[in-house]
Amino acid sequence: MSRRILVTSALPNANGSIHLGHLLEHIQTDIWVRFQRLRGNPTVYVCADDTHGTATMLKAEEQGLTPEELIARVGLEHARDFRGFLVAHDNYHSTHSDENRYYCELIYNRLKDRKLIFTREVEQLYDPERNIFLADRFVKGTCPKCASEDQYGDNCEICGATYDAMDLKDPRSVISGAKPILKISEHYFFDLPQYSNMLATWLRSGAVQPEVANKLDEWLEAGLRPWDISRDAPYFGFLIPGTTDKYFYVWVDAPIGYMASFKDFVDAGNELTFDEFWDAKNNTEVHHFIGKDIINFHALLWPAMLDGAGFRKPTRIHTHGFITVDGKKMSKSRGTFINASTYLEHLEPEYLRYYFAARSNGTVDDIDINWDDFVQRVNSDLVGKVVNIASRCAGFLGKQFGGRLSDTLHDEALWNSATAARDAIAAFYESGDTGKAVREITALADRANQYIARQEPWKKIKDPDKRDDVQAVCSQGINIFRLLVIYLKPILPQMAAKAEAFLKVAPLTWADLETPLTNHTINSFEPLFTRMDRKALERVVEATRDAQTGVGGVTGTAASTSPPETANTNKSPATIDIDEFSRVELKVAKIVAAEAVAGADKLLKLTLDVGDHERHVFSGIKAAYNPDTLVGRLTVVVANLAPREMRFGVSEGMVLAAGPGGDDIFLISPDDGAKPGMIVR
Ligand code: MSP
Ligand code: ZN
Repeated sequence: MSRRILVTSALPNANGSIHLGHLLEHIQTDIWVRFQRLRGNPTVYVCADDTHGTATMLKAEEQGLTPEELIARVGLEHARDFRGFLVAHDNYHSTHSDENRYYCELIYNRLKDRKLIFTREVEQLYDPERNIFLADRFVKGTCPKCASEDQYGDNCEICGATYDAMDLKDPRSVISGAKPILKISEHYFFDLPQYSNMLATWLRSGAVQPEVANKLDEWLEAGLRPWDISRDAPYFGFLIPGTTDKYFYVWVDAPIGYMASFKDFVDAGNELTFDEFWDAKNNTEVHHFIGKDIINFHALLWPAMLDGAGFRKPTRIHTHGFITVDGKKMSKSRGTFINASTYLEHLEPEYLRYYFAARSNGTVDDIDINWDDFVQRVNSDLVGKVVNIASRCAGFLGKQFGGRLSDTLHDEALWNSATAARDAIAAFYESGDTGKAVREITALADRANQYIARQEPWKKIKDPDKRDDVQAVCSQGINIFRLLVIYLKPILPQMAAKAEAFLKVAPLTWADLETPLTNHTINSFEPLFTRMDRKALERVVEATRDAQTGVGGVTGTAASTSPPETANTNKSPATIDIDEFSRVELKVAKIVAAEAVAGADKLLKLTLDVGDHERHVFSGIKAAYNPDTLVGRLTVVVANLAPREMRFGVSEGMVLAAGPGGDDIFLISPDDGAKPGMIVR
């Protein structure tokens, strides 16, 4: 009996781009989904953008868009990025949808009918200028413990203290800079403590990894508290039924977005029904893939809400750790906070899919990326071991035997040992330990290569008596290669498709592991996979770093505009030749206005007079220069840099400046006779 499975990845926030962290999650999920399908289990994979909340509202405002315009734009970008990595969502929806509003209201009303909702007054910081309540992230001030300035409302980055935003000294609103006042309002609460026993049992049912269950047990032992599910207007979200100014907190409607996306998929027309997966009575499975930072929402609140509203609970929550690079958090200035689109401009998606698979072990451990290791594994394991088998054997078969495979296997023991690994490999895929699956598969590839080396078909081919032998050995090699393709197909769907074309077979399934390919003619060999170019990887890192400091940004090397971390990066970009340089149009520009960009820590918006017109450039030099000291001064601008759309607007060029920062900025002195618009040579 096949299993029927619904799978989700956490819904990416609609206020940022898809990056390596999201990709880890979606690639892990997609591999698991493809594995289930390969095994013949009908599996639906849905996702959506998480659109609501204050952050979306403010981001839209900064960009001069309505929240609806912003999320429409970002939604398309996210879906495109995931497709680029061969992540095959059946549906990519939005939490700002009719389906989501419907299920939010339904669940809320059911909880309310069962007396699981109550109201209580809450005192909170409030921005009296913007008339908005301030979540902790939107308040900054001086740490009450160590007196460090400019700390967020929930914890201090300097001394690590956690505290209440109301305890900050000299608090100010991040939105307007105003001093917050205290204000009371009525909030809606979900009576989570009612579910303590249910959750304790559910957590031990195999629904989460053991280390996650242990962590959650601590919470349960400490005692659950009622959960605040409302936010006051202004808020971008859904109104709570029966109110005019209370909205569902974004974390209420976000997981319901899983249901909404599935409903939207069902409505698009197929044999599925909504109840089949969400009614507690049905014998189907629901699996959520998430990162470790959002465990409590998924493993406490979500199952309690579902249970309270009479829906089924998730079968399993698969939690992964965080991506780090060379042991450190991803960082824009180091060039390691890599966006999906930047990666895809330079590298193949399957390199990353393979690397993430090789590094995942089904636990919540963080995954540290090391670029040397990345290149090494792709090139030596995948190209050097797996693809190598096919390229070694296909040449002889094609040229000497018209692509014809032998009628029987040359080394049945080798075949048997390769197929015998299937249950172990399947178990590794099932538990998310794709690292062990990959190790098992590459070990089989090693044995196949050793076999070919021992058989030396390149020598035998010179002996007319051994022609049959060569055909048999190469057919054996192709057969082992075919098994490896089946094993790797969830990780490398594109490579598998090319291999299927080369082998001239229908799409391979797990059941094809049972029988070898004999008496069959294959196509001529086309390269299935190219070696990874280390330089392309460098370009991804450079482009990521440039997007941070360069575009519309800075400056000669000396103007240090980023935090000290960049001081350690002594890598210089590749050299350019004189022709490339001569394509750069440098002009003198006068800075006629300079202002900070709300919501951007590093950017200044500069208005430049370039002689015949004015243009705007966003420059990442805020940390180094006070905008007021820049106005009226001359600088050099890269005038023919293609306009670039940034989060805050379009940047039309890049200014060049140098200096240690502060007042000591080296610009051009007007005394030297420079005028806006002059061409710099
Ligand atoms: N919108 C919420 C999820 C709602 S699900 C009902 C959210 N969004 S997020 O964009 O911040 O993160 C989406 C997923 O990406 C989360 O599972 C998160 O753990 C994961 N990651 C974000 N950054 C990550 C890394 N650096 N490394 C690995 N995964 C990380 O949370
Ligand atoms: Zn502190």
